[in-house]
Amino acid sequence: MDTPRLLIADDDKKTRDFVAAFLKYKGYDVVQACDGQDALDKLETEEVHLVITDLMMPRVNGLEFVKKLKTMRPGTVIIAYSAFGNYEMASNLLKAGVFFYLEKPFNLDELETHVKRGFEHQSLQSQTYRAKPALKNRALMPNIIGESSKMLSLFELIEKVAESDSTVLIQGESGTGKELVARAVHDLSNRKTRNFVPVNCAAIPDELLESELFGHVKGSFTGAVANRIGRFEMADRGTLFLDEIGDMKPNLQVKLLRVLQNRELEPVGATRSKKIDVRIIAATNQNLEKLVATKQFREDLYYRLSVIPIFIPPLRERKEDIPLLVNSFLERFNRNKKSKVKGIDSDAMDLLVHYDWPGNVRELENLVERLVILKGFGAIGVNDLPEKFSGVTISPPSESMTLPDSGICLNTVVEEFENNLILQALKKTGGNKKEAALLLNLKRTTLIEKLKKRRLDTIATSFA
Ligand SMILES: Nc1ncnc2c1ncn2[C@@H]1O[C@H](COP(=O)(O)OP(=O)(O)OP(=O)(O)O)[C@@H](O)[C@H]1O
Ligand SMILES: [Mg+2]
Repeated sequence: MDTPRLLIADDDKKTRDFVAAFLKYKGYDVVQACDGQDALDKLETEEVHLVITDLMMPRVNGLEFVKKLKTMRPGTVIIAYSAFGNYEMASNLLKAGVFFYLEKPFNLDELETHVKRGFEHQSLQSQTYRAKPALKNRALMPNIIGESSKMLSLFELIEKVAESDSTVLIQGESGTGKELVARAVHDLSNRKTRNFVPVNCAAIPDELLESELFGHVKGSFTGAVANRIGRFEMADRGTLFLDEIGDMKPNLQVKLLRVLQNRELEPVGATRSKKIDVRIIAATNQNLEKLVATKQFREDLYYRLSVIPIFIPPLRERKEDIPLLVNSFLERFNRNKKSKVKGIDSDAMDLLVHYDWPGNVRELENLVERLVILKGFGAIGVNDLPEKFSGVTISPPSESMTLPDSGICLNTVVEEFENNLILQALKKTGGNKKEAALLLNLKRTTLIEKLKKRRLDTIATSFA
């Protein structure tokens, strides 16, 4: 992107001119439109990456405009403002994909901060949109949120896989959405009107799993008081989802392999086998190849299952999806819990984007739920986030340290490293502890405590 280009739509010429002049002065290339329709017309021919819009406009109003724009150019970052905002409007805007919503009157510097962040967000996404493949069925997977190129490739793969009847093996860390993907494959397939039957192989005791899967006949073991059909049969002409397949014990692995090979099964205690027509989708958060290498998982079964492997990347490898996930979870939990949380401010969003999410989307979803409950209304800020988010934006030291063979005293080294950064912060701020604490994302009192404890106060005052 050369000069960043944006469009401002507002029917009030005075405001529009004023904002346009300010942003031009700040180095942006600005296109003006006098209402939603005019903006849509201009966007047919003008290439802009960010749109600022008023909400109360004649002809096509703000919300309508936003919706149309999102269909026409999904990658455009939109900042909306209004003097008549209310919670409902803010929530609808978020849902429609608005990046930030400002209430009038706002100050121009504030607007510029959001514009800057909007462009950053846009450049993160731009690759995604350039690579956007034609997805026929994206609308049929509304539960799976994501716009990153990795997720778009995943959607494409799901579509292709759904058309076939082949066995699928879904791998990915915990909380990446394996079950969601399995359901999507079923929902897009010819089997969609039949059952999707999940079985969690790790949750069912080993001795019961066989009868759970294949069923049993009355009297075949103590407790088998009646004939019972297994999950395979429940999934007849539908899909069986074998979750946590990595936890299946070797003796059952053999039996499963036989069923997959012969497409027929024998209920426990039965003398005759039954034909089955079931599509298998298996999933695991373990590295199955490793389990195969260490002989904990049968190699032949692994190949049977991984006819079509699907790998879901961890959230930290598709950080551009984080704002979208946060906003849609906010919207959902607001609705479910009748809360009125208006959004999340950009500093807090930055911290969320920089965090590594070891628990992936599940961790993010749980956090947003907690925040919505605790906050209730207003906008979520940095102070609302749990402790672990503070400081995540500090980049690690450029030269990574090699551990000497003789070892180190971790506490001393870490303390020295901390001291060094603390003194740098004080130097930068001319000894101002409040500002230094801000630079370090510490409370002022915590900083003062550290200075005292480490006898750094005299050095600290020397910077003043
Ligand atoms: N892309 C996504 N969009 C929306 N929600 C998602 C997405 N990915 C995961 N989730 C949500 O995160 C939670 C975890 O997803 P899911 O249960 O499918 O993960 P999993 O990979 O099966 O995890 P585990 O290995 O721990 O079983 C669910 O509530 C799911 O709805
Ligand atoms: Mg799961």
